[in-house]
Amino acid sequence: MPLVTSKEVLTKAQREGYAVGAFNANNLEYVQAIIDAAEEEKAPVILQASQGAINYAGLDMIVAMVRTAAEKATVPVVLHLDHGTSYEQNVRCLRAGFTSLMFDGSKLPYEENAAITKRIVEMAHVVGVPVEAELGQVPTAGNITWEDVEALMTDPEEAKRFVEETGVDFLAVAVGSVHKMTAQAAKIDVERTKKIAELTGVPLVLHGASGVTDDGYKEGIKAGICKINIATELNKAFTKGMHDALAKKPDEIDPRRIVGVGRQYVKEAVKAKMRLFGCSGKA
Ligand code: G3H
Ligand code: ZN
Repeated sequence: MPLVTSKEVLTKAQREGYAVGAFNANNLEYVQAIIDAAEEEKAPVILQASQGAINYAGLDMIVAMVRTAAEKATVPVVLHLDHGTSYEQNVRCLRAGFTSLMFDGSKLPYEENAAITKRIVEMAHVVGVPVEAELGQVPTAGNITWEDVEALMTDPEEAKRFVEETGVDFLAVAVGSVHKMTAQAAKIDVERTKKIAELTGVPLVLHGASGVTDDGYKEGIKAGICKINIATELNKAFTKGMHDALAKKPDEIDPRRIVGVGRQYVKEAVKAKMRLFGCSGKA
């Protein structure tokens, strides 16, 4: 079916109490793996393009691959811009065919983040495309302490004001997760998440979710998380697939027999997350 908007799949998720997986796709094999997983799980799915993926694959190539795969699929597929950097990039993605946008102004002062988000919302809503924004900061793994993570968390009252002022459709919240963690060890501040959900009323987005525990997913979803972003876990799976293929046959020269195993591992990783998020069977 044609691509659908994130509003369609996330409104239903919010109403029915589950989360839709938003999986970062870097190449053809990821796109195929993620959509095959969604078909097998009968799950709605969001494919998202990070800045790295856009630089690697190119915007038009990403749109062409995802649109072609979505049209053959029987489940709803969304194409989302992940961590959009500017108003201009959001315009480019809208024109290219994305059905969901994001502006990440989390490192900007509140007023600037809110002003740019509002402009993007006004522009995208003209053609019915929803927008995600981030308030508070989900940091990246490295030299950070739990105190650093806490200091960057989303303030619930500020979130209420931000949603009211910008009209944004979904809010990415900083509630304990950290980008690019390679082990599931991050704790979620459930009370804070609940409070933000109550005060804003919009579906919340969990970034850096590869590092969140399975219980964290469940508690987060109960508190109001409706979109869960996974990137690092898929990169680990793809790379492990290629390593395993080469370990089994070190003199393999057909690259399809190497990346094909990566694709299979990504599909299994996506299916496992979909079951945890409760979106299996919801298409
Ligand atoms: O925006 C993308 C995500 O937040 C992915 O985070 O790489 O930690 O899974 P992750
Ligand atoms: Zn993120």
